[in-house]
Amino acid sequence: MKRAHWMGGVCAAMVVGLGAAALAQPADPWRNARLSPDQRAELLLQRMSLDDQVALLHGHFPIIMRPPPEGVPASAGYFPGQPRYGIPAIHESDASLGVANAGRGDKDDAAPLPSGLALAATFSPELAFQGGAMIGKEARQKGFNVLLAGGANLARDPRNGRNFEYLGEDPLLGGVLDGASIRGIQSNHIVSTAKHYALNDQETARGSLSAVIGEAAMRESDLLEFEIAIKSGGPGSVMCAYNRVNGTYACENPALLNGALKRDWGYPGWVMSDWGAVHSLDAAMAGLDQESGQEADRQVFFDAPLRAAVKDGKFPAARVHDMARRVLRSLFAQGVIDHPLRPGGLDTRADLEVSGRVAEQAIVLLKNSPGLLPLAGGAGKIAVIGGHADVGVISGGGSSQVIPVGSVRFPSPKGAPSWGGGIIYHPSAPLKAIRARSRGEVAFADGSDPAAAAALAKGADVAVVFATQWSTEAMDIRLKLDDEQDALIAAVAAANPRTIVVLETGGPVAMPWLDKVGGVLEAWYPGAQGGEAIAKVLFGEVGPSGRLPLTFPTDEDQLPRPELPGYTAAAPEGPTMTQGPPLQVHYDEGSDVGYRWYAAKGLKPLYPFGYGLSYTDFRYGGLKATGGNGLSVSFTVTNTGSRSGTETPQLYLAKGPRRAQQRLLGWSRVVLKPGETRRVVIAANPMLLADWSEAGHRWKRDAGRYRLFVGANAADPALKGEAMLTGAALAP
Ligand code: BGC
Repeated sequence: MKRAHWMGGVCAAMVVGLGAAALAQPADPWRNARLSPDQRAELLLQRMSLDDQVALLHGHFPIIMRPPPEGVPASAGYFPGQPRYGIPAIHESDASLGVANAGRGDKDDAAPLPSGLALAATFSPELAFQGGAMIGKEARQKGFNVLLAGGANLARDPRNGRNFEYLGEDPLLGGVLDGASIRGIQSNHIVSTAKHYALNDQETARGSLSAVIGEAAMRESDLLEFEIAIKSGGPGSVMCAYNRVNGTYACENPALLNGALKRDWGYPGWVMSDWGAVHSLDAAMAGLDQESGQEADRQVFFDAPLRAAVKDGKFPAARVHDMARRVLRSLFAQGVIDHPLRPGGLDTRADLEVSGRVAEQAIVLLKNSPGLLPLAGGAGKIAVIGGHADVGVISGGGSSQVIPVGSVRFPSPKGAPSWGGGIIYHPSAPLKAIRARSRGEVAFADGSDPAAAAALAKGADVAVVFATQWSTEAMDIRLKLDDEQDALIAAVAAANPRTIVVLETGGPVAMPWLDKVGGVLEAWYPGAQGGEAIAKVLFGEVGPSGRLPLTFPTDEDQLPRPELPGYTAAAPEGPTMTQGPPLQVHYDEGSDVGYRWYAAKGLKPLYPFGYGLSYTDFRYGGLKATGGNGLSVSFTVTNTGSRSGTETPQLYLAKGPRRAQQRLLGWSRVVLKPGETRRVVIAANPMLLADWSEAGHRWKRDAGRYRLFVGANAADPALKGEAMLTGAALAP
């Protein structure tokens, strides 16, 4: 109706006045899909009033609105449509692990993926794309056209309570996988979001802390992950973070927004704020384009105050135009405008399969005593113990939480954020999946009585202990299981050394019982099919192929900051979100995050980055390195065992022309039959061979000798080599 009115009114009058040439123009030229997204956005903006443009720049937070606007799901974000221009309403939902916030509580039929760390452990861009494509499809089917997915903050501190949402400690691995996931999501004509830009690397005091770090260090670490993800994934939007960076809030930080993101990387999309992260209108001049969830801010900055500032000549109308253009440009580019939402048609069963595939490839075998795993599936007795394995698998809390039908809730610890109403177990019980695969007796003890669990283990051929660690947005974690679980594992292992520990954790944990147990599997938060995936790996239906996307330290003393800044066990969320003087967190390790820190300090972690065993063995050989204007290597990998298996050889820089510096340069995933040999080629990512030059404001590669190695993890220089490279400068 409104559109007809517009065409019959203003437009008809214009056409009359403009004569025959104009008559050939379509009435709404921006609807012409043959024009570029930039042209279409520009044409549309020419017709939009200031008020109409500003309406694109501030949105609602329906979940906290009482009541939410009619017909709008109680989700994270909502912008009313502008039908006269064909601009649909924008419905935003969290997040990277599936469609959360769909407003249907426990009856949600969404399919949760395993955690981001689990995805990262696959080292597979293909699976990242498939997972993204699945949750993007569900988002569309559930009526969302912007998914707040694409979380990729570097695991600079393994205690960050949101690490489970992210993709580990390496900027190349995380950036490549995030880019692939974003492409998958956006293959559904919806927008995906890279977040939280940048250095939101701990949750404690996230609303006020200032991450203190030098320019080169930041460019070569946290920003590099975003640069790779954004350039390869092309997200329609980027969400700026809660914290400050070098004293200035990330959402009003010109160096991050106008500087690195928009000027240097040429990012054409829009920057949205995190929810409650806007503190002033100045943010708009620093590069923030859109105020999200305005009900969470102290006041709505990007509506009346913005319009008034433009009218008073205090804020340039051209910048409003630019802000709105960026939003429209992404909506055109991703097909949001050309492909309106038609909710419905969800096929949860098919989607669960995608989730299960990721989980199966994500599980990391950390320890396996000879002959223990895989389980034979014969007539022996299996004792399954603890971890609510009779109910399901644990998941992470916070805005990314998906609560599918059949989930079971347990109380969260005192003082923890109450999102989701407790600790959610996804309904895929490992006990049931183990029983389905065993021809012998499978007995269960819930682990609440360690003596009873030990007695059960003693009479069994093998004991499988499930240990869980919950983590959530807005709270950081310790690198350990709770004391009861450590004691339980020790008691069971003392009773039966054929004990296998299955970890379902948000990240690394210390393993004081490691020497006493026979096997350890890290299953992360394995998602909707987690129990099945774990059982498949235990019984060897699927060979373990996951690799650690972050280092497992022996304990917190090995970390750059043994004490987590601001953290106290009594109030793990630390100082309040936004009040008070900012807590300064000095990232003096610079870009030596994770395994680079261990290499630089000569520390031996519990398990290195990239580590993971298989049910077969591999041998590497025949390294050839080619230098010049780029670096590539080739080498052979042979499966020397008796089962098929997947190996993930990794190429690392060990030493540049000037100094020792370890960096992941590339990797490959090879599936080999017993006895099979394959020649593998890995080309180094050029950005990882360069350093950021603050003086030259660009990436610079020194000429000279580069020492490298290929191995099965960051601490395994199986094949050493070197190559001479020319010097080069790369534009940012
Ligand atoms: C989180 C974001 C999320 C937003 C909307 C914030 O608390 O940091 O990741 O997208 O809420 O739910």
